Amino acid sequence: MSVIITLTNQKGGVGKTTTTATLITGLSLQEYKVLGIDLDPQGNLGFSLGLDIENTETIYDVFRGTAKIEDVIQTTEYGDIIPSNILLSGAELEFNRSGREYLLKEALQSVMDKYDYIIIDTPPALNILTVNAYVCSDHLIVPMVPEILSLLGVSQLKETTQTVKKFYNSKLNVLGLLLTKYNSRTNLANEVADLADEIAKQLNTSVFKARIRSGVAVAEAPAHGTCILLYSPRSKPTHDYIDFVEEVLIRCKAAKKKHPAK
Ligand SMILES: Nc1ncnc2c1ncn2[C@@H]1O[C@H](COP(=O)(O)OP(=O)(O)OP(=O)(O)O)[C@@H](O)[C@H]1O
Ligand SMILES: [Mg+2]
Repeated sequence: MSVIITLTNQKGGVGKTTTTATLITGLSLQEYKVLGIDLDPQGNLGFSLGLDIENTETIYDVFRGTAKIEDVIQTTEYGDIIPSNILLSGAELEFNRSGREYLLKEALQSVMDKYDYIIIDTPPALNILTVNAYVCSDHLIVPMVPEILSLLGVSQLKETTQTVKKFYNSKLNVLGLLLTKYNSRTNLANEVADLADEIAKQLNTSVFKARIRSGVAVAEAPAHGTCILLYSPRSKPTHDYIDFVEEVLIRCKAAKKKHPAK
């Protein structure tokens, strides 16, 4: 059975897509079988990994029932990817039948045994797409930028997580909070650490030891249709992301030991 991890934060531009692409690539490089899913109508995940997201079937077609999940999976050097595009933005209005929270969970049933990890990128919102990701996930990872660290918004995220846990998916766990775009010169280390710890505590989790430093290569990599790990293997963010991938593996294994039945 796959371990399913969703990257989430309703704030925009905090590194969800970058972290999703890096986690997919990092796990694939370690020979794990990985499926990446873009649930964001912006389509950034597929685009940044060099896929043509316009002239192709996407997760939207699976939700509509006009394509099978196997038919929308694209094979890349980074792992298998299911892209998305702007058509998915109609999901909130279009998929309004009961049980619409389970569209992704249902769709994944036939591929669950094929992958070790399924990594899901979500939009900067808490909407039906985000809920679909939460409903089928084992773990959530919450990336945050130190400059906009705030307790505001955390209560909303916490509420959504608790609602999903209560009604749809009791095993849902917040694996950790990840600091991104970290700059040791401008971010006052102690202040940031304390606030991040407090936010993590509210979400019943802890902050990943790895902090992803800022680096221009991170923003350049998607323009070349590739991931930072391959685009700039010696850069600081690459080092940090390698540590992060290791921590994710350790935390997933620890969670499995604690709750083997899940
Ligand atoms: N460590 C970093 N250093 C420098 N730039 C970064 C870093 N992480 C992300 N960025 C840049 O910040 C921007 C936003 O990152 P990203 O798209 O991953 O965020 P997001 O949370 O997915 O955004 P959205 O909410 O719009 O989906 C991108 O241009 C990305 O290249
Ligand atoms: Mg994104």
